[in-house]
Amino acid sequence: MASAKGFTLWFTGLSGAGKSTLVEIISARLNEHGVGHEILDGDVVRTNLSKGLGFSKEDRDTNIRRIGFVAELLTRHEIPVITAAISPYKNVRNEVAAKIGRQRFIEVFVTASLDELVRRDVKGLYEKALHGEIKNFTGVSDPYEAPDDPQVTVNSEDETVEESADKIWNYLLANEFINVEQPVLQA
Ligand code: ADX
Repeated sequence: MASAKGFTLWFTGLSGAGKSTLVEIISARLNEHGVGHEILDGDVVRTNLSKGLGFSKEDRDTNIRRIGFVAELLTRHEIPVITAAISPYKNVRNEVAAKIGRQRFIEVFVTASLDELVRRDVKGLYEKALHGEIKNFTGVSDPYEAPDDPQVTVNSEDETVEESADKIWNYLLANEFINVEQPVLQA
């Protein structure tokens, strides 16, 4: 068993950069250590809490504020939260960080070159965006504002997912967001 204090692990990055994959790995590691937590994934949130919202700046900001609102409630009550939305706008990310409290907000920037994301095109959306079939697509025809000073940056083009997950996990341990109990050795 490990113990944890409330924190929000906030993933930001372009669609297909690897946010959700890393969330799954970190979530599995938390489970292995018996650390209860909640996940707010953009794709899932948009099917319930943010159903009906589109991708204008206004709607995206509303989506992020809603995710931030729930994350703050849980974090306040010592429940670790992991979020994974593109969250392309710096101002609203900073607004959420301030509400949650900077000491409990961990921004994880997941990056890869646009060329690589187009090559992967897991959901087939980049192809459509490049052909103008999807308007306002982040990274192609809509802005993405990278964080200035993220607590962790991972590059899914240069690192394996395990390497990236280790970076994030080590940050949580080093900053005592999670305490993994060491077995007591008998003399
Ligand atoms: S955010 O901008 O409001 O943070 P969110 O993470 O919830 O975005 O949703 C992004 C997902 O919606 C993408 O991974 C993709 O599957 C889908 N999507 C559909 N249209 C767009 C678009 N115009 N821009 C970005 N993602 C889109």
